[in-house]
Amino acid sequence: MTDDDAAPAVAVIVVAAGSGTRLGRAEPKAFVLLHMRPLLDHALDSIFGMKESVQIIVVAPSDRAADARSVAAQAATRHGVTASVVAVVSGGRTRQDSVDQGMSALLPSVNIVLVHDAARALTPASLCDEVVAAVRATGHGIIPGLPVVDTIKRVAASGAILGTVDRSELSAVQTPQGFPRVMLTSARAWAVQHGRFEALTDDAALVADAGHPVTVVAGHPLAFKITTPEDLERAELILHAATPTPTPTPTSAPTAIPAPTPAPKPAPAPTPQPLARIGSGLDVHAFATDDTTELWLAGLHWPGERGLSGHSDGDVVAHAICDAVLGAAGLGDIGSIFGTADPRLTGAHGDVFLTETMRLVVAAGFLVGNVSVQIIGNRPRFAPRRAEAETRLAGILSAPVNIAATTTDALGFTGRGEGVAATATALIYPTPPAVHPTVPEQTHTPDLNWEA
Ligand code: CTP
Ligand code: MG
Repeated sequence: MTDDDAAPAVAVIVVAAGSGTRLGRAEPKAFVLLHMRPLLDHALDSIFGMKESVQIIVVAPSDRAADARSVAAQAATRHGVTASVVAVVSGGRTRQDSVDQGMSALLPSVNIVLVHDAARALTPASLCDEVVAAVRATGHGIIPGLPVVDTIKRVAASGAILGTVDRSELSAVQTPQGFPRVMLTSARAWAVQHGRFEALTDDAALVADAGHPVTVVAGHPLAFKITTPEDLERAELILHAATPTPTPTPTSAPTAIPAPTPAPKPAPAPTPQPLARIGSGLDVHAFATDDTTELWLAGLHWPGERGLSGHSDGDVVAHAICDAVLGAAGLGDIGSIFGTADPRLTGAHGDVFLTETMRLVVAAGFLVGNVSVQIIGNRPRFAPRRAEAETRLAGILSAPVNIAATTTDALGFTGRGEGVAATATALIYPTPPAVHPTVPEQTHTPDLNWEA
């Protein structure tokens, strides 16, 4: 898709506000990394890969809206589309509540709505196109489904078999589910009015319950839902298989063996393989001399701790990561990009710097592989919030972040408690041409606009 349509006729609501209980990770499912990128990022690839320009509405966990914005901005940049085509709203308690939140952000121009699970992260873009086309052609609700291949039994609580279900009548349904906007809106109102809203968990069930036609079209095996750790492993294996592997460099023939005659056709020169690149960063800030400056470190607020002095919030971890990532990409350093006295940066938090850094690095054709940080200082005691900080920064960078912390045995300025230092090392790698198997045919948003 492109971003040339300011009044799109189609919207895709990507519901990503679930907690992922069955996946069993600390972070919400949409932010769990799959092939080094959040599930949500993959899910957005499916939508950006659609032929038609659409409005995209991401429904995110309420405490992760900023991270969802950052993921969406990076995905948009990768696809050469402006991030403004994506709206991010906070989700609700149930999936249906989350869909409702998404519906509230629809543009007036939209007349077809697709509802899609972020958890179906590998859904082909072509399936989304097919659902839109079928809604247009029929005026019905359209849901993708696959034939059920297993024999299905009805079983009593005791385990006794009660009967065999005729599987020819069964379909395992998927998303995106598409509907004419008026049909979905009126069906949802009907369900609320008749007390059916909680019971009908599926958009299609809700629309059919209100008496509207819903038709099943052929689904796609890649649109499976990532629910359990085994599903995540399956998706990882699929992406691994789809990632181009480096061409082995031909080894030269041993000199002792004469070349066969006639001389073999020379092998084509090996294509140079893009290399991963690393960068390092270091930052130091002194503790503020007053008691009122608040401490921000590693993207987190530390109530009750003495703050660090600086033009921005003094978050040495965020700044060191920016230098490491920018350095790896050959884009300079934090001072050269942001300036040291820009009034827009007074008190700015680390996420502002990191998000803009990521935008630049992604635009330069790289993704972050991982980041390793070392904090050096006596305070704050970092260990209790280490996981929280790592998750926060990983959400912004779309890559794993490890943070270690140490004191210096009372030596030096950190040992005397005068300030905090941090070093960071970042590995980045060129964006693979088609890491997503579903789009083979195609090639936290900052508050500040640096190019303005
Ligand atoms: N979803 C949502 N809001 C909710 C619940 C679910 O937006 N309150 C979304 C999920 O993010 C997911 C989709 O609905 O993309 C399908 O839900 P499911 O696979 O059940 O995801 P979770 O609810 O996150 O997982 P679990 O049921 O294991 O907790
Ligand atoms: Mg659920």
